[in-house]
Amino acid sequence: MVGLPARGKTYISYKVSRYLTWLGIKTHIFSVGNYRRKIAGLNLPHTFFDTNNMEAMKIRHEAAMMALNDMIQWFFKEEGTLVGILDATNSSKKARAWINQELTCRGIQVLFIESICDNEKVIMSNIKDVKLSSPDYCNRDPKAATEDFMKRISHYEATYETITEQDLSYIKLINVGSQYIINMIRSYLESRIVYYLMNLHTRPKRIWFSRHGESLFNLEDKIGGDSGLSPRGEQYALKLPELVKQNIGDRPLTVWTSSMTRTIQTARHLPFPKKQWKALDELDTGVCDGMTYDEIAAKYPDDFSRRDEDKFNYRYRGGESYRDLVLRLEPVIMDLERHENILIISHQATIRCMYAYFMGLSHEELPYARIPLHTIIELKPKAFSCEEKLYKVDVGAVDTFRPKGQKSRRLTNDTFVDSSIPLAEGASGEIADANTSILPITPISVTPC
Ligand code: ADP
Ligand code: F6P
Repeated sequence: MVGLPARGKTYISYKVSRYLTWLGIKTHIFSVGNYRRKIAGLNLPHTFFDTNNMEAMKIRHEAAMMALNDMIQWFFKEEGTLVGILDATNSSKKARAWINQELTCRGIQVLFIESICDNEKVIMSNIKDVKLSSPDYCNRDPKAATEDFMKRISHYEATYETITEQDLSYIKLINVGSQYIINMIRSYLESRIVYYLMNLHTRPKRIWFSRHGESLFNLEDKIGGDSGLSPRGEQYALKLPELVKQNIGDRPLTVWTSSMTRTIQTARHLPFPKKQWKALDELDTGVCDGMTYDEIAAKYPDDFSRRDEDKFNYRYRGGESYRDLVLRLEPVIMDLERHENILIISHQATIRCMYAYFMGLSHEELPYARIPLHTIIELKPKAFSCEEKLYKVDVGAVDTFRPKGQKSRRLTNDTFVDSSIPLAEGASGEIADANTSILPITPISVTPC
């Protein structure tokens, strides 16, 4: 990362990390700020960031070296395609040349992502949004903390050099996506990251997910198929416009459905523009389509237990795995990043994948995420986390969740009543923890190249 403080570097690092992890690429953020806080402590005054402060400069260099060294060690320890993100200002040509040299000489490809922003309003709102609550300013008066942070920025500005090095690979994001400058993008992975960054925006937004109403196949415990809604599913479809009005309000929504009968039927009373996505169709269960879990366990016992061992990677014979589904849904995620006011009516497995992207679930957690029927899930992405609310309609439905190791998915027969989920009026929010981004600092020596 490259850029002055409060330009969204950490935000971008988190977004890229979450996106790549979701796609299955091992990604880790090495935050120089976290190393600096470990070495020098919290609540440092702006004078610590003055480049004439030699004592502090030594500490800052040490923190940068530790982060880079840990990152290099991590590259050699882990296997597969890896992306390490060095989150720091890296605001001089000298710093970038050093990073580039240390990494390229070890065969690690470097892409610099610079965020430039001269919009005072955006910078002030970034400071209020995240900096005042950062560990650097805990328990400080907000006004004094803001003034101190502005002075900290001016120390960086004194020596800041934007990237002009034509021999480096880079993307510059200017004023939150109003312009991009791209130089020497060489690999598929770099181009994916660049494409992703070009879809990001920071306007506050909410996204709503709902599964289709209970289907006839749900009632019979069958998976897959293209059945229509059960009478209770119809009731849910009828109540959906009211539920939306009560909880989402009068904003102009766009409804995205899959191309399957049950989602189209569920959306049909909603008075909004609709778009069908094939990509939102339910997981293709191949030869198991139309069977119950009990039938699958009896007919394909090996497959059944292999799916339990590694549900994310298990691919149905002639069908798909959750890993395949993530790739199928990538264009939907890109569009969701670009758009606001979208209500998606889709299926258990597809919603799990999209939910996992926003909530930062691991591949182990993803296929077991609870996505109940007859419930709208509202997600509100924040800078480093995502808030969640559930709006449940008071129309019973079967529970289609099959816990690991069980055959029959319904624990109890008939109506699904989950008391942990409030009804529409009393919906509660749960705030996910932001990921932490630091590896333990270990004394290290990286062999020079
Ligand atoms: P930095 O790491 O550069 O000090 P942060 O990532 O902590 O800054 O700042 C987070 C804030 O930056 C969030 O409020 C987010 O909305 C905002 N932000 C995200 N992307 C950008 C961007 N490209 N330019 C400016 N601000 C951004
Ligand atoms: O049971 C409903 C359903 O949408 C099936 O069509 C689909 O195969 C299943 O859920 C996905 O859930 P799981 O991956 O837990 O089997």
